Amino acid sequence: MSPVVDVQQAVCIHRTADSEVVALRGADLAVEEGELVALVGPSGSGKSTLMALLAGLLRPSAGRIEVLGRDVGRATERELLVHRSQDIGMLMQGPERNLLPFASVLANVELAQLGARAPRRVRRRRAEELLEAVGLEGASRRVGTLSGGEQQRVALAAALSTGPKLLLADEPTSQLDHENAERIARLLRAARDRWGTTVIVVTHDSELGEAMDRRLTMRDGRIGTEARSGEQYAVIGRDGTVQLPADLADRFPPGGRALVIRRASHIELHPMRPTDDER
Ligand SMILES: Nc1ncnc2c1ncn2[C@@H]1O[C@H](COP(=O)(O)OP(=O)(O)OP(=O)(O)O)[C@@H](O)[C@H]1O
Ligand SMILES: [Mg+2]
Repeated sequence: MSPVVDVQQAVCIHRTADSEVVALRGADLAVEEGELVALVGPSGSGKSTLMALLAGLLRPSAGRIEVLGRDVGRATERELLVHRSQDIGMLMQGPERNLLPFASVLANVELAQLGARAPRRVRRRRAEELLEAVGLEGASRRVGTLSGGEQQRVALAAALSTGPKLLLADEPTSQLDHENAERIARLLRAARDRWGTTVIVVTHDSELGEAMDRRLTMRDGRIGTEARSGEQYAVIGRDGTVQLPADLADRFPPGGRALVIRRASHIELHPMRPTDDER
């Protein structure tokens, strides 16, 4: 079975009038159906850029982005419309960007399902069910009058309302208290169990990260390390490069050298000091 997400050597350059920022530099990622994945890493490491590429909101400068068997980097605008309205659920960073402020809570979650062509009755029922699951009362309130955390929960209910094959959620719990963040983690797992939804969340919240099956760490535009089942792995890039865990930076400073020694059962890396004539 092919993976739900297959990203190969993605490069993304943000161009503005007077600058160019390389946000992704050869990112690789494969996610299988039904996996719950957390994307973590420092600010500016390219997490939101990667999510926008998966959603087809941005095109890669180079590399291949395949999502649900669709080459989203090269898809037509019409194909991307189907992609976003029927196949994926998306929660962008900053809850207010996902919602219509003058519409009610209930209307927002119903409207999110328009592209999925479900009958009105079904849309209403789903909306009510999900709003209950995210613990939000007062479905007739206008979204613009809600707190950031409440908006975040409405946005998640909207993103899940079509029963998407893939949910992309960028910082879904950043404005929530502990109890509500836990509720969200449970809801994500329930979506996977109920609809087989594959979930990718960007998060700084370590508890939400721990609740996912895999935690991928981005650094400098690449996915460098992965944690799962209590083990930590370095991800080997397609060009053979390995990013060492960030906490080894003091022993292996970037640009330095490591002595590689092959042993029968493993490979050793030894940090090397610059030789005298290089100093
Ligand atoms: N529209 C844009 N125009 C120019 N530069 C951008 C744009 N969007 C992102 N960048 C730059 O690309 C890099 C990666 O940004 P991105 O938003 O993907 O990071 P992030 O990991 O999501 O960070 P955060 O944790 O702060 O949300 C950053 O250096 C950022 O300044
Ligand atoms: Mg971001």
